[in-house]
Amino acid sequence: MDRKKLIVGNWKMNKTVQEATVLTLKFKKELKDLKKSEVVFCPPFIDICAVAKGLQETNLKLGAQNVFYEEEGAFTGEISPLMLKGFCEYVIIGHSERRIYLSETDKMVAKKVAVVLAHDMTPIICVGETLHENENGLGKRVAIGQVEAALHLVTTSEVKDVVISYEPVWAIGTGKACDPEQAEKMIKSIRESISMLYGKKMGDAVKILYGGSVDKKNVAFYLKRKEVDGVLVGGSSVVFDEFVGIVGAAEKI
Ligand code: PGA
Repeated sequence: MDRKKLIVGNWKMNKTVQEATVLTLKFKKELKDLKKSEVVFCPPFIDICAVAKGLQETNLKLGAQNVFYEEEGAFTGEISPLMLKGFCEYVIIGHSERRIYLSETDKMVAKKVAVVLAHDMTPIICVGETLHENENGLGKRVAIGQVEAALHLVTTSEVKDVVISYEPVWAIGTGKACDPEQAEKMIKSIRESISMLYGKKMGDAVKILYGGSVDKKNVAFYLKRKEVDGVLVGGSSVVFDEFVGIVGAAEKI
């Protein structure tokens, strides 16, 4: 597919406001004139204002790592889509770390996806199987099941507006990246299932990324695959040289 590669940096629970400010300015200086890639930083909530300020007058985009599915009210500790709107173009939804450590369910994921779309932001829906599921040959079924559940409240015409990230749990933060050919196969299967449910036009339009131990050395192997529309980067996104290397590789594809 001939379109810009999407490179998403998920900073996870890293960087204080001061550290985020310094890192953003370094990225701003280095990542100029991007032609072949779209770069999104997803810092922790508390850093969002500082990073937004740092990214002013650049083409670099901002995203959040999560959101709540109500607009306001008695939901202690949560952040509403209204609060993110205006700062963020993207919101990561259903990351496996939230599904595992914070008991986020498919139903919550579906509600969050719907609310993000309703506020004109792009959800990046994370799906992927655990090692146990993978070893039992359930990878495809689990990942596609999570995609279908996440799109439950989305209308057919909105499907093109979501981004999906295939992230096998066993590859996240482990240094054991998924074989690029396997990742592409899974992404192709996800696309086919979307085409079957919502029509080929939607299946072709939806961007599908790979995530899991992506670094500057292996990123090109994913980005060269035609089904892979980009990468979601965790650990390497907060290491300056690594992330600059990743974006540099995307610009050369
Ligand atoms: P990782 O994380 O790059 O550190 O493996 C990926 C992710 O969280 O999606």
